[in-house]
Amino acid sequence: MESLGVLLITANIGSVCDEPEEIEKLWLQEFYKTVQDHQSAFIALHLQEFGGKNYQENMGCAENFIRRLIQSEEMSQYNCVQSFIDKDFTQAERFTALASVYFIHSCLHNARIYDFQEKSFVSVSGSTMWMGSLEDCPTVHKERFPQDFWLEFAWTRKGFMRTRWLVNDQTFDLVNLHLFHDASNLVSGDCSPSVYSANRRRALYHVLTRLKDDDNAPFFLFGDFNFRLDLKSLIQAQGWTSSDTRDLDVQTAVYEQNGEVQLVMKCKQFEHQNAKVFQDENEHMLLRFDHEPMPFLNELTEVQISFPPTYPFSENVTKPSEFMGTRCPAWCDRVFMSHTARPLLQKSKLGEAFVQYGRIGGDVCMGDHKPVFLHFEMEPKFDHLEN
Ligand SMILES: *[C@@H]1O[C@H](CO)[C@@H](O)[C@H](O)[C@H]1NC(C)=O
Repeated sequence: MESLGVLLITANIGSVCDEPEEIEKLWLQEFYKTVQDHQSAFIALHLQEFGGKNYQENMGCAENFIRRLIQSEEMSQYNCVQSFIDKDFTQAERFTALASVYFIHSCLHNARIYDFQEKSFVSVSGSTMWMGSLEDCPTVHKERFPQDFWLEFAWTRKGFMRTRWLVNDQTFDLVNLHLFHDASNLVSGDCSPSVYSANRRRALYHVLTRLKDDDNAPFFLFGDFNFRLDLKSLIQAQGWTSSDTRDLDVQTAVYEQNGEVQLVMKCKQFEHQNAKVFQDENEHMLLRFDHEPMPFLNELTEVQISFPPTYPFSENVTKPSEFMGTRCPAWCDRVFMSHTARPLLQKSKLGEAFVQYGRIGGDVCMGDHKPVFLHFEMEPKFDHLEN
């Protein structure tokens, strides 16, 4: 059996839905380019914030966007497409705004999806679009975080959604995820780890526990984890001092070094005055403060990151690689996998790079998040017998 090219993509499209037209065109262009670059037989696209912030108004646009994508000339070789779109925002207790779309190339004949009700795999063919709250869809398992999960915050539109696949005799789960964001920079910088990070940790443990409840399959967990840098550690490591002007009324924190202002921070403002640490060549330095995956390394693994942060980028199409002065740059968008899934990634032979983990649209505006992809050749199951 031949190895199989797999492309996993995660994209928070909130601002694509809020600002359609121009950004949408650029987004699709970069997406198609990535698809063409890799020529994968199986593509999984996990979207978050489907419909954007004003989902009541923009859900129709988002739906058209996804239809255009699926029916495009560029994707015409993928004649089987399975889509799961959680778009019923009237179900406040259930709405996650997650959308997962799976493209199967015409050369791939043996892809099957799991029916969670019948507990068996079923064949897929043609295009199937599941839309609504997805409660009745047997081939997807969706959960929104319970409203009372964390009392201080409303868990709006956050949860996870899973499908299970049998492709080339390999079984694996694909899990789309959206975790809670940081509400205030001032609170984020208060302690290490921040309360938001502790909150996400609880939520991610919850997801991993739920995945384990059902019979375990190797899984790929990719979505918007909202992982942020450990702000307090980062500020301390720079040797910046707070000039003690933190005015409780205007809620501003100013950090200085040698009498020069390095960072001005408010609830939703993060002005880093071009401090060296946030310049491009320092991205690997910033990775040292990416602490949030650490508690999960027993269960999850990730290919080494070698790309700049994925958030928050300017939504002005003339400034595609500029950070927006709202949040500390961070690697929010990630592809993790279980340790049992890692062996599915084929080892490099003859020095060929079979595994690629990267960011899409570094110099093109794709909204405030840059999508992230993992491309690999999936190890054939009975490779060792053939050798
Ligand atoms: C985008 O940036 C350019 C250059 O700074 C500016 O002239 C333009 O007004 C901005 N556009 C929007 C929509 O803010």
